[in-house]
This record gives sequence, structure tokens and C-alpha cells, in this order.
Amino acid sequence: MKMRTLDPKTVATRDLHQFLLGSVAPRPIAFASTVDDDGNMNIAPYSFFNAFSSNPPILVFSSNRRVTNNTTKDTLHNIQKNKEVVINVVNYNIVRQMTLASIEYPSTVNEFEKAGLTAIPSDIVRPMRIKESPAQMECVVDEILTLGDQGGAGHLIICKVVKLHVAEKVIDEQNRIDPHKMDLMGRMGRAYYVRCSGPNVFPLFQPVTKIALGFDQLPPQIINSKVLTGNNIAQLAGLFEMPKEEDVLALKQNESIATLLDMDNRSLLLQNYAKQVLDLEGDAEKAMKVLLLDV
Ligand SMILES: Cc1cc2nc3c(=O)[nH]c(=O)nc-3n(C[C@H](O)[C@H](O)[C@H](O)COP(=O)(O)O)c2cc1C
Repeated sequence: MKMRTLDPKTVATRDLHQFLLGSVAPRPIAFASTVDDDGNMNIAPYSFFNAFSSNPPILVFSSNRRVTNNTTKDTLHNIQKNKEVVINVVNYNIVRQMTLASIEYPSTVNEFEKAGLTAIPSDIVRPMRIKESPAQMECVVDEILTLGDQGGAGHLIICKVVKLHVAEKVIDEQNRIDPHKMDLMGRMGRAYYVRCSGPNVFPLFQPVTKIALGFDQLPPQIINSKVLTGNNIAQLAGLFEMPKEEDVLALKQNESIATLLDMDNRSLLLQNYAKQVLDLEGDAEKAMKVLLLDV
């Protein structure tokens, strides 16, 4: 891979911003609801956002100085005054309404009305929740960290969740959030977004406490394969033990495998066969046995 190397000290902030945002993606979106001292409601999306602790439950997002004119934003001003925010998540159903709310309306304009979203009262904090959002987190702000005074500088807003509201319809029978029902949106670089449902959302089962083999325990015909990808080899390296020799040899009874073993280019054919087993069946144990026949 030919790489482009950028030095933050010499790259224009606007360009650096795009390279950072294109690289650190997709980002979750905090749809932040705040109020000013006069009770004016404000909602705006922030994708410099994540969860950083569950106990205590801490969310952090960043309101940045505008690169164009170095001004700061209403969400920050409101939080500086009253230290409260509701962070609502953004799913596919409200993504276009979210972009409307990101328009830089004057501070007295109520973006709930502009974006056609419904404000509902919170239990603990003053800012309202967004009714249409499937998860709404009432927060008190613990700390605001100022990262600089030039355009593009962030203010890390460290929020403690004091109440969490999750739509019943996204919770499964085992009391967990179903990502497909949640249908969240992520922000990529430039104007790109990603919708988190459908075939692109899939589980990866990984050993947590049991020790997996690892790449270094795999035989050279697997490690040096030109057919298997890094992901394929990782599937094999995730097994807990090498298959027993008799189980490997038993595969010779399989008619299609026996045919491959008779061919001149058996190594290549076995690797292609194993790759299919991994990609289509996800059966690492069987794939490993197939590959071990190539001795
Ligand atoms: C999806 C999305 C993500 C955004 N993320 C951020 C962000 O992380 N930080 C930021 O300062 N502005 C971000 N913006 C821009 C703000 O939403 C925009 O400046 C907004 O007008 C600020 O509103 P406010 O002045 O009411 O706080 C984002 C905009 C969109 C559409």
C-alpha cells in the first residue's frame, strides 16, 4: 500500500479535518438537546461522540470552534451555563430531520420545530428529549475540557448519564438491544453516512476467556497461502486446538475432497475449497482439516 503521510503542523486545518474524519469513521451521532437561561430549546447533532465508561456511565462529545470564523456553538454555550444535556441517538427514521437541525439557525430558533421533531419532558434534567429517537440519555455535565483557542479546536463535554430511556420495540426477549431494530446511523467523512442494519451488521463470535491458537501456531501452508485472506487465516487462528490426525484423514472419504487430492495442483484446489468453507459456511474446523490434508 502506498501511503500518504501528513504532518498536522503543516496541513491546513480544513484538510486535516477531512482526513481525520474520513479515517475515524463511522462515528455515532449524539443528537444533543439543551436549553438556554430563557428556556429556549436547542437541538444539534455531534459526531465527535462516544461512550467511555459504564460505571459511572460517561458519554463524551465535542463541540468545536468553527474553522471558518473561530466562533463557538449554542450547544456549548447552553451547557456552560446550566450543565445539562439530553443525548438522543439518531436512527434511519430521523436522519434527514437530524441534518435539518444541524443548520446554523440563530440561538433563539427552536430546532425541534424546524426539524419537525417532538419535544418531550425529561425526568431529571431541564432539556427536552426527542420523542422520535429510540434511545434518549439524560445527562449532567461533569466537566468541559477546552482543547484550544483556534478554529477547529474542540471542547470535550464529559457527561454523566442520570437516566436512560430506550424504546421497548428495539429490546429483544433477552433484554438486549437488537441492532437491526435500532437501525442507527453513523457519520463518515464528507457528507457520507452509514445505516447500521441489514447484511452489513453481523456478529463476530470471539473467544473471550478461552485461549485461541493464534497465527503463530498455524502451519506454513496456511500462513503463506496466496488464496486465504487475513480474515480467513484469523478464522483458523481463532480455533482452540488443532484437529486430531484421524479426523483430518477421515475427510479423505469425502468424494469431492478425494477428487481434489488426486489432482496435480491439489494445494491450490484445497485452499480454494477451504476458503469457500470459511466464507460460505463459516466452518473453521472443517476448513482447517481440509488444509491439513495438503502435506
Ligand atoms: C452528523 C453531524 C455531525 C456533526 N458533528 C459535529 C461535531 O462533532 N462537532 C461540532 O462542533 N459540530 C458538529 N456538527 C455541526 C453542528 O451540528 C452544527 O454546527 C450545528 O449548527 C451546531 O448547532 P448549535 O450551535 O445549536 O450547537 C455536526 C453536524 C452533523 C450534520
